[in-house]
Amino acid sequence: MKKPIVAGNWKMYKTPSEGHDFVQKILNLVLEIEKTHVIFCPPFPALFNMVESMPSSFSVGAQNCHWEKEGAYTGEVSTAMLSDCGVEYVIVGHSERRHVFGEPDEWINRKVLAVKEARLIPILCVGETLEEREDGLTKDVLIRQLTNGLKGVDSLSGLVLAYEPVWAIGTGKTATPEQAVEAHQMVRKYLMELYPHQEAEAVSVLYGGSVKPANAAELINSEGVDGFLIGGASLNVESFTSIIKQVEQES
Ligand code: 13P
Repeated sequence: MKKPIVAGNWKMYKTPSEGHDFVQKILNLVLEIEKTHVIFCPPFPALFNMVESMPSSFSVGAQNCHWEKEGAYTGEVSTAMLSDCGVEYVIVGHSERRHVFGEPDEWINRKVLAVKEARLIPILCVGETLEEREDGLTKDVLIRQLTNGLKGVDSLSGLVLAYEPVWAIGTGKTATPEQAVEAHQMVRKYLMELYPHQEAEAVSVLYGGSVKPANAAELINSEGVDGFLIGGASLNVESFTSIIKQVEQES
């Protein structure tokens, strides 16, 4: 059985010192968990120190990267820099990168390939907007984002996917378990068509979008949901701890 993942995407919240204190509090409360893999994804400046003080059973991820190894790209961070910091995961194609910063599928694909080449694990995010859902385009959008995002990816090992419906991110509107199951099935079915069955079955597909203590147990028990990518609720000790403990208990 797959080990469920609970990843906290802090977005642009918490200074390095705030992040350090926060992580210590969480670790004190969940240090004994065994069946759940917890990943903290703080902003870049916190990464190095956070890895140094992280027990080996927990992981640290970055929220973005550039695909080039180095160069004159002011403000960007390479996979080698992240790797040198001890980071293990990199979120790629988050809806805020796609919709706020205008990242096209082609950039996202280059990032996925660069992250894999650096032997880090991309968490590739896909998801439809409300308009796309209402127009019945959810499947088309997911397939387009997967097809373009995974171009040139020979193997799904060392890769995590996240289904994050844009309309559920930071809105308090969570996908119902039925909506989550349906979208996860679309993703899995598509992967099955492209990759060997065993690989497509083994890849973790996380759900993200207004996950909170009140809906975590129901969602983690939904077929095909292998864990969570959490924004708002990952910034609070009580809510993040509660979600981790519920996932641990349900697995
Ligand atoms: P929220 O949990 O705040 O809806 O954010 C989800 C998200 O974007 C995680 O990457």
